[in-house]
Amino acid sequence: MDSTSQTAAKPFSCNNLFFLLLLLSSNLLTLFVSTTFNNASCSLKPQPQIATVTTVDPPPPEDNDDDSETNPPDLPPELIAFTSPQQLPLGFNKNFDSDQIFPPIGSPCKIFQDELRRYMSYEVNGSCPDDELLAQKLLLRGCEPLPRRRCRPAAPRDYAEPYPLPESLWSTPSDSSVVWTAYTCKNYTCLLNRHRNQKGFDDCKDCFDLNGREKNRWIGESISDLDFSIDDVLAVKKPGSVRIGLDIGGGVATFAVRMRERNITIITSSMNLNGPFNSFIAARGVVPLYVSISQRLPFFDNTLDIVHSMHVLSNWIPTPLLHFLIFDIYRVLRPGGLFWLDHFFCVGEQMENVYAPLIESVGFSKVKWVVGKKMDRGPELNEMYLSALLEKPLKNSW
Ligand SMILES: *[C@@H]1O[C@H](CO)[C@@H](O)[C@H](O)[C@H]1NC(C)=O
Ligand SMILES: *[C@@H]1O[C@H](CO)[C@@H](O)[C@H](O)[C@H]1NC(C)=O
Ligand SMILES: *[C@@H]1O[C@H](CO)[C@@H](O)[C@H](O)[C@H]1NC(C)=O
Repeated sequence: MDSTSQTAAKPFSCNNLFFLLLLLSSNLLTLFVSTTFNNASCSLKPQPQIATVTTVDPPPPEDNDDDSETNPPDLPPELIAFTSPQQLPLGFNKNFDSDQIFPPIGSPCKIFQDELRRYMSYEVNGSCPDDELLAQKLLLRGCEPLPRRRCRPAAPRDYAEPYPLPESLWSTPSDSSVVWTAYTCKNYTCLLNRHRNQKGFDDCKDCFDLNGREKNRWIGESISDLDFSIDDVLAVKKPGSVRIGLDIGGGVATFAVRMRERNITIITSSMNLNGPFNSFIAARGVVPLYVSISQRLPFFDNTLDIVHSMHVLSNWIPTPLLHFLIFDIYRVLRPGGLFWLDHFFCVGEQMENVYAPLIESVGFSKVKWVVGKKMDRGPELNEMYLSALLEKPLKNSW
């Protein structure tokens, strides 16, 4: 396999200032988050008595707004019921080192009280509000995980079951497999045509069209050095040794489908940004994972053979968050595992000043490293792409 290196790696010592800044900014961020959290006038005070095994009746309305510093405003009873510490029925548990469990919600949830209150106001054992947009906005801003709810989510009126395998992999699913409320388009015909008809930007605008560009991705039909093919990447490892992995921000999961055709199991994380990405991925017959790029990856250390990400990890992500994220990818990859960073995007000097040193610092070995100009919006914008194939060393002692 050809190993291209168009950017010389900078020695680490040149980047001390960068790392000082990075560390400072992440520490400041932590400080900010923790002070915000602690000073929040409404902390979710534990109220263990309210959590019960069955349903919860709303408490009678109270009129004690006199001290908003110490008294939380009237939180939805379901929020209190979910987040309150709950006694383990069998008592002290050695694994927990506790006799209690605290069901989690993302700590920033507390910052977005109005939205959180709306999200948790519903009838127990009834239908959930059809509020996908509200939930996703909360989640994208950091209220992740969202609290669980005791209600049934909106479902299509005349749900159509998915096509059987292998037909499902390359078929557009039925319109009635989706609840369309949250999206501009209300059917797949509209989604398939939106790159022709729609003005303005939408994530992955043409990718619901499985007979368009999706069909040619990663199978060696490309013109640019930045486009690696799946088979070239797999050839780096012993046949059969890449078996399981994750595609971060994987659009409609064509990467996972191509890998499935090679008997490799890939989980695809995706948001539903103005399109039913998670429903579509599931309808194709591969596994969608609804977590944002901020969330700790829900995998154990040293477990995955490959992590891929295209067009998502880029300069829109705050640099400290990106640094944490790449370390998290390193964590979940097994020794010898591959990180395929596909079309990382940034502008001009950012590549050599910020992103190349950041990525290089984490400790992967470089198998491929290709930097190229992104020309689609004109050369004068000086936009850059990096495609890299990185390997977690077999010996990576901590
Ligand atoms: C909960 O809802 C289901 C379905 O509507 C119903 O069959 C059941 O009786 C309800 N349970 C309670 C405790 O209300
Ligand atoms: C799809 O939705 C568009 C509006 O978004 C509508 O004009 C069109 O008739 C719909 N097509 C089908 C096949 O339902
Ligand atoms: C995938 O697995 C099936 C069943 O074990 C086998 O028949 C097929 O040849 C495999 N395909 C590839 C590309 O390895």
